[in-house]
Amino acid sequence: MSSYKIASIPGDGIGPEVTNAAVEVVEKLAKTLGTFQINFTHIPWGTEYYKKNGQYVSDNALDELRQFDAAIFGAVGAPDVPDHISLWGLLLAIRGPLQLYANVRPVRTFPGTRCPLNTATKGIDWMLVRENSEGEYAGQGGRSHIGQEWEVATEVAIFTRVAITRIIRFAFETAQSRPKKHLTVVSKSNSMRNGMVLWDEIATSVSKEFPDVAWDKMLVDAMTVRMVWQPESIDTIVGTNLHMDILSDLAAALAGSIGIAPSSNLDPTRKNPSVFEPVHGSAFDITGKGVANPVGAFWSAAEMLTWIGEKDASDKLMSCIENVCAAGKVTRDLGGQCDTKEVVEAVCAEIEKLKN
Ligand code: NAD
Ligand code: IPM
Ligand code: MN
Repeated sequence: MSSYKIASIPGDGIGPEVTNAAVEVVEKLAKTLGTFQINFTHIPWGTEYYKKNGQYVSDNALDELRQFDAAIFGAVGAPDVPDHISLWGLLLAIRGPLQLYANVRPVRTFPGTRCPLNTATKGIDWMLVRENSEGEYAGQGGRSHIGQEWEVATEVAIFTRVAITRIIRFAFETAQSRPKKHLTVVSKSNSMRNGMVLWDEIATSVSKEFPDVAWDKMLVDAMTVRMVWQPESIDTIVGTNLHMDILSDLAAALAGSIGIAPSSNLDPTRKNPSVFEPVHGSAFDITGKGVANPVGAFWSAAEMLTWIGEKDASDKLMSCIENVCAAGKVTRDLGGQCDTKEVVEAVCAEIEKLKN
């Protein structure tokens, strides 16, 4: 029987609430199916760890993570630490250095979730592919003359041929594997005349390797309009790190709630462990209330199961989640009455039924 070692990094805010819920559900699934074993190791990185140790992660964090087959992550960010310190201390200290260059964010409505668009008569079924290693997230730039009238701050976006080519190719492959075989390449090559023009040129050139995939180009501002007005014209989308950060929150809201959106930080070369996390953040406003929607963390865990080779278990987990949502057992962000614990119990009860 296959056995997997998974790191669990709950982090801050509602991160522990949803990550612990996901661990409970996946352990229940493994035990119920009996077809694979899974061992979670808790890693306490986050703001509490930072306050004790002066840093968000251990000295040898990357090597520590390399001992695992994959990791699940909750969220990072606390009200009393500047966000750029917490985010660069933990999440961005992992994604870039581990070269988890493909951030995959599926967006789908299912019974029990509410798409606010009356234009989406068939619901939404999109696959967002985010470049996850460079762009505005390359960490380049700085400040000079701090506090003075002539202070200057730069945030330099880096775009390399290698990174653009690998993510565009990954996106075409992703689109090719989906029934509609359609890709939209998002950029901003009207006002951004270097990196974004390179992005478009590479898309045109890589597209020739995929004659069976229909594709189009779209400026990112116009893409927001298309997502609202013509949602059914969209299938797979690829864009830069920053553009897709923004479009993925919009997409999540259009599919019903940021609370259900999953995300996979993948190293497609499989040299490093991939990291699976909900799209949402620490959600200070609901932390500790027990009402966080755990579905984004569950769905991310399901994506993790597929990635490590347990597709059947992953599909079963997704159908349990969908049955629970269809039965209206959802949290307030989806218009329901349930708290986190009730959703966990409902999903576990669905998993129990898999025995029969
Ligand atoms: P957020 O995603 O934490 O919250 C935005 C809104 O969505 C809030 O109203 C929140 O209550 C709601 N929400 C989020 N997740 C939910 C869930 N599971 N169930 C129900 N409602 C949910 O975004 P923010 O407020 O911009 O950020 C808060 C902190 O989290 C900041 O420190 C930010 O930097 C950090 N952040 C971290 C990550 C991450 O670790 N991956 C992602 C985004 C933001
Ligand atoms: C996300 C988050 C992160 C990002 C932040 C928290 C660094 O918003 O995963 O979408 O910008 O990538
Ligand atoms: Mn984001």
